Formats: sequence, C-alpha cells, structure tokens
Amino acid sequence: MQIKRQTVKSILEDDRTEYTTTVKGWVRTFRNNQFIALNDGSTVQPLQVVVDATKFGENTLKKITPGAAIGATGQIVPSAGRGQRVELIAEHLTIYGASDPSTYPLQPKRHSLEFLRSIAHLRIKTNTFGCVFRLRHAIAFGIHKFFNERGFFYMHTPIITGSDAEGAGEMFRVSTLSPSSPPKTASGEIDWSKDFFGKQTNLTVSGQLEAELGAMGLDRVYTFGPTFRAENSNTTRHLAEFWMIEPEIAFADIQDDMDLAEDLLKFILRYVLDNNKEDLMFLQNRLIQAEKSLPQHQRSEMELIEKLEFVLAEPFERITYTEAFNILRNSKPNKKKKFKYVLDQWGADLQSEHERYLVEKHFKRPVIITDYPASIKAFYMYLNDDGKTVRGMDILFPQLGEIVGGSERETRMDVLLKRMEEYNIPPEELHWYLDIRKYGSCPHAGFGLGFERLVQFITGMSNIRDVIPFPRYPGYAEF
Ligand code: 4AD
Ligand code: MG
Repeated sequence: MQIKRQTVKSILEDDRTEYTTTVKGWVRTFRNNQFIALNDGSTVQPLQVVVDATKFGENTLKKITPGAAIGATGQIVPSAGRGQRVELIAEHLTIYGASDPSTYPLQPKRHSLEFLRSIAHLRIKTNTFGCVFRLRHAIAFGIHKFFNERGFFYMHTPIITGSDAEGAGEMFRVSTLSPSSPPKTASGEIDWSKDFFGKQTNLTVSGQLEAELGAMGLDRVYTFGPTFRAENSNTTRHLAEFWMIEPEIAFADIQDDMDLAEDLLKFILRYVLDNNKEDLMFLQNRLIQAEKSLPQHQRSEMELIEKLEFVLAEPFERITYTEAFNILRNSKPNKKKKFKYVLDQWGADLQSEHERYLVEKHFKRPVIITDYPASIKAFYMYLNDDGKTVRGMDILFPQLGEIVGGSERETRMDVLLKRMEEYNIPPEELHWYLDIRKYGSCPHAGFGLGFERLVQFITGMSNIRDVIPFPRYPGYAEF
C-alpha cells in the first residue's frame, strides 16, 4: 500500500496517534544509532524517528548522517522520551541522498552568521534560516492579503526602464553592446541607438513612476518587485538588489499616505504574531543566546515578540523635519559631538544615527517625519507653500532607521517642470509622467516599503544580508 507523505508540521499538529504514515526530509542528528531528528522544512520542530538498529542493515544505518535526505514509514506513537509529544517508529527507511559526514559543513553545533553567509546555498537547511525564510514568505503573503482586502490591484511595473525614478543616478546599466568595441557616433561617443532597446536602459530603482500611472486609472495599486541600486553602501541595511512594496493611491494626500503605511505595518505585525509564533519564538531564543556574550547595556531592551507587540500597540509619533531637527540639534549626543555627523544647519539630511536616536532614545516608538527640505528629497514630492519643504514622509523604526519613504506627489505641471529642471531631468524623458498631469490629474500619494528591512525588523536579524536568500552587495554576487 502506498502511504501518502505527511509533513512534520501536520503530524505535530495532529492530536491522533497509533496510525501509520510516511515522512521525508533531512537528518539533523542521529543519536545513539537510534533517534533521528528529522526536519522537512515545514516547521522548525523536528520529528523524532526511532530506529531499531537490529531491523536495518549496516549499509542503511551508516548513511543516516547529518544532512542526508531520507524517508521513513511507520507508526506514530506517543513519545516515551521528553521533548516531543509523538514520534515515528520506523518500519521502513529510504535513503534518497547520503551526505558525506567528513565534508558536510553544517555540523550539529552553533555556526556564526558570517560563516553561514559564505555557504548561503546550504544555510537554508539550518533552523535559523528556515525560520527567517518561512517568515519572509509569510510577510510577503500578508502584504498581498492586506492590499487585496482593501481593494488594491497588484501591478507589475517594468524591471528594465529608461528612467531614473529617484533621480539619484544609482543605476545598473542594461546593455547588449560589446564592452570592448561598442558602436560609436560620428563624434566618437557610444551610439546607444544601436543598443538592444535603441536607447540607454537600466534596471529599475523604483516602480513608483509607473505605479502613479496605474493609480490614475485603477485608483489604488501596489507594486511588489525587485529593485536595484548601484550605491556603494556597505552597511547592515543596504542591498544592491532588494524588494520593495510601493502602493500608490489616487485622491489622497500625505495624511492618507501615512495612515496607509502605519496600517500596513501593523497589519503585518499582527499577521506574523498570529500565524508564525513558533518561528518567532525560535528566533527570539536565538537572539537571547547570541546576546548573552554582550555586556548588559548592549543587549536589547525588549525581547523580539515583546518588541513587535509594542510597535503594534503604540501610535507612531508624527513630527515635521523642522521639529525633528530641533530635537536633534539640542540633543546630548549632538552637543557633545557624539554623533558622527553633528547637526548644525537646517536642511542637513538626517543620518541613520539621528533617526535611531529619535526612535530609540527620544520617542521610544516608531516616528514618521514629514515636510523635509526640498533639497534633500526627490523631484516628484509636492512642494509646500513655503517653497522650501516638500510633503514627503519617512517612517523610522528602532534598530533600522528608515523603513518607509513616501510622499504626496507634485501634481502642478509648472512646479513639477521646475523641479525636474533643478534635477537635470529632461522633460522628453518623462513625457508620459507629465502627461498624467495633463489628463485628469488629481492629488495622489504613495510610499515605498523596503521588504528586507521589514523582514529584518520582524526576525531581529542584525544584518540585511541574512534575510534574503542570496544577497547582492558591492563586490558580491555569488550563487
Ligand atoms: O526612500 P526610497 O528610496 O523611496 C523610493 O524609492 C520611492 N520611489 C518610494 C515611493 O514613494 N514609491 O526607498 C524606499 C524604501 C526605503 O525606505 C528603504 O526601506 C528601502 O526602500 N530601501 C532599501 N532597502 C535595502 N537596500 C537598499 N539599498 C535600499 N534603499 C532603499
Ligand atoms: Mg528614502
């Protein structure tokens, strides 16, 4: 009789015992030639498979080593040992793929995250990364659920574009021209008209501009896709390839934008607390263990789940850039020159150290900053009547600093053209973007949520390179 395979998760959640089933997965440990801890990815909990060594040949037993892929069929019974409710008494074992114990890098002991990053093709097999990537999935799913329930349409914006949505010039070029002998124009420059698309193209830095087009017909849309930035940022918060969620809403202003962003973030926190407690508990314990070696003042003030509950319960603080600037300028670390960038002149961009001070020390909760100086924000943000500030907003989170950046969009053609001129963006390049200001324009707003930063916050992982399966950053594009 062929018995259908069950996941470990479904067995552990099932109240029944005394039935026969089959599991398939990877061996974590094999204790005393008798107890296999089997993990199949469905949950962080292993299933204990009990082997009677006299029943199975030496040839089978010696292949049950950490990392081996096996199948086991047998009775599910109440466990005699401690640590698990049920176990499987193996009647039949299949070895699908052995794993040479003399070379397998994931020995059953604690490995550093740095080491695991160097074997990112194997780290998915560990408990920590199993939890992180199950949560990554759940967060993505929760995001789609949130928008779907609110009547948003998921819009796929292009990955190859001819524009720089942020006007920051941090783009990866996309070209099929020969790097050693590209076609040249009469004046000796590279002739991009001969390139694949007949012009210069790049990987997108943001889907916003196209999402704005979408909102002008579908009313409320969101993108959720990969974005690429060739910025030379070697930090624990930057990737060269990251995923971004960008909603865009018509007939909406910056207040609506902030409300939407706060609702989204809280929905996701509620969602994972309700659905992913086991993985969160595992990561919480991992953090507690990892912080044991740190001096008291460097340890987290809250445990992971408490931190998520806390952010969920409190309204985010909303202040203007000018208010934030004044708090920071008069703060102790600024006066004592403890900040790397000491704040002095209104108009200075806030660095992550300033953002974290506001969130972690001053307000002790997430902060939304609005009305930034126009000079430090993108060309598309709505210019306030003071002519100096724009209706942009950043949401700042503990541990991370900026997690969301958004704005009400500039809808007045003359103001927009002037701002583009300041940023050296030729109107011809964005004629389509300007067109929506000509035909049925309306107030609209949107934001970008950095997906990995959200995953980082929820999982408590300190480095963003550990929340995406295969990170890309300056000097690194393995796998
Ligand atoms: O603030 P940013 O650059 O905003 C935009 O791209 C707008 N077009 C969004 C919009 O209004 N539709 O990026 C948005 C968010 C940041 O707050 C941050 O969370 C994340 O994207 N982000 C990065 N995440 C990882 N690595 C990087 N290099 C990132 N750059 C931005
Ligand atoms: Mg930003």
